[in-house]
Amino acid sequence: MLDIVNDPTQATPKDPEPAHGAGQPELSRKGFIITYPMFRYWNKDAVGEGLKPRPLNLYVHTPYCIQRCAYCYFKTTTLKDNRLQEIDQYVSSVCKEIALVAQHYDLKNRPIETVYFGGGTPTLLTEENIDRLFAALRESFTLGDAQITFEGEPVTLTERKAAVLKRNNVKRISLGIQSFKEEVVFQTGRRDTEEQTMKAIALAKSTGAEVNIDLISGLPGETPEYWAYSVQRALEADVHNITIYKLELYANTPYYSAEKKKEVTLPSEEEELEFIKYAVAELKAHDYQPVNTFTFSKGGAHDQLNTRSKWLGNDNCAVGVSAFGSLGRWNYQNTNDINGYSEMVEGGRLPVVRGYNCTSFDLMVRDVVMGIKLVHLDHVRFREKHGFDLTKICADELSQLQEDGFVTLDDKNVSLTDHGILFGDYVGRILEGSLKKLSGASTGSRARVLF
Ligand SMILES: C[S@@+](CC[C@H](N)C(=O)[O-])C[C@H]1O[C@@H](n2cnc3c(N)ncnc32)[C@H](O)[C@@H]1O
Ligand code: SF4
Repeated sequence: MLDIVNDPTQATPKDPEPAHGAGQPELSRKGFIITYPMFRYWNKDAVGEGLKPRPLNLYVHTPYCIQRCAYCYFKTTTLKDNRLQEIDQYVSSVCKEIALVAQHYDLKNRPIETVYFGGGTPTLLTEENIDRLFAALRESFTLGDAQITFEGEPVTLTERKAAVLKRNNVKRISLGIQSFKEEVVFQTGRRDTEEQTMKAIALAKSTGAEVNIDLISGLPGETPEYWAYSVQRALEADVHNITIYKLELYANTPYYSAEKKKEVTLPSEEEELEFIKYAVAELKAHDYQPVNTFTFSKGGAHDQLNTRSKWLGNDNCAVGVSAFGSLGRWNYQNTNDINGYSEMVEGGRLPVVRGYNCTSFDLMVRDVVMGIKLVHLDHVRFREKHGFDLTKICADELSQLQEDGFVTLDDKNVSLTDHGILFGDYVGRILEGSLKKLSGASTGSRARVLF
């Protein structure tokens, strides 16, 4: 039996009893439903909530890179294939799309919580193009004090670019490092030496922005000694956040086909798990606290708010080729084709080519599956939002997950343990399955039967 909290359909002594006879309801002057939930449940406390403007996040995609790294699955294209003039054209189209989306969805006055420039390699853009993107954003949105993040590859972060980021109030610079060992990095096609990488980190810090660095745990050539070296160098770099990605092997990457042909050897799953365990233990020992299942923040004080806000279910308006976002219950993605993208935008059309309308049930499952990746899933907030007590409707699965050492439970949160952080998506899937069982939908497919 599902536990519905504050169920406004439950009769109280004052409710008129619906009249019913032998199979036929009687007409009554009292039972007319004017609104749902009924007025008696409306109150002053709920006024503030409705008047608060809804927060919005922005994502801007830059698909250009100096090389195609052998592991990378992002929609990117290398400079070799594209002349600078084409990048200028792309930036013009993104500026135009920014104006189009702001107008189409009436977003101008919504407070912007975060802006994320992702890629590809946004730091590859010229200073002029970076300025143009910021000018377009300011023209169409209310940026206020948003947390602005800019991604970059170390070799592309020059002093002039760092100055442009500072001038545009960038608060986080996120650098892809992958490994501090050149033996590992060079195999991927990148050319960032350790010296250049350390210089870029220092330069990023000198802007006053918080700095994140990414490492990937399972690259070909990785050994326990190399990995320990990378983790120790990351700690010495004394940055605000360190992100540890487990290598994802996708079919569109050179490493995928090389591995199939046995041209490269990846660390085994067990070895990679050991690498991640080592990193997590070292990070914790140096007071880096997890703010999500892969980002660790010095003293827990420098959260990546873009991820947090999106995973808590707030809107994310995404622009640029292949960018994907969500507004309300609608998920959408732009075309993957750069020329097609520019043509559509220049013709005044939004470049959206696919979408998904979430049901209320999808939104509820999303809050669990994405929310648990933030390490603490606030089940009180969940109950206030969705009307269900997660600790009751997923009681069996939660107690099994507790017994297996993946989660802990208190009167506010379901929290991943240190072990559970390594398996955040597994925990999410178990809870998803639990919710879908209750709803009558099968795991892995869209919910068909709602509560
Ligand atoms: C857009 S890139 C970062 C900025 C810049 N392009 C760079 O590579 O330095 C975002 C991050 O995604 C991660 N990434 C890319 N492909 C990955 C894969 N196959 N598995 C795990 N992480 C991956 C890398 O750590 C990379 O730093
Ligand atoms: S890892 Fe970064 S630089 Fe390399 S291809 Fe991916 S987005 Fe481009």
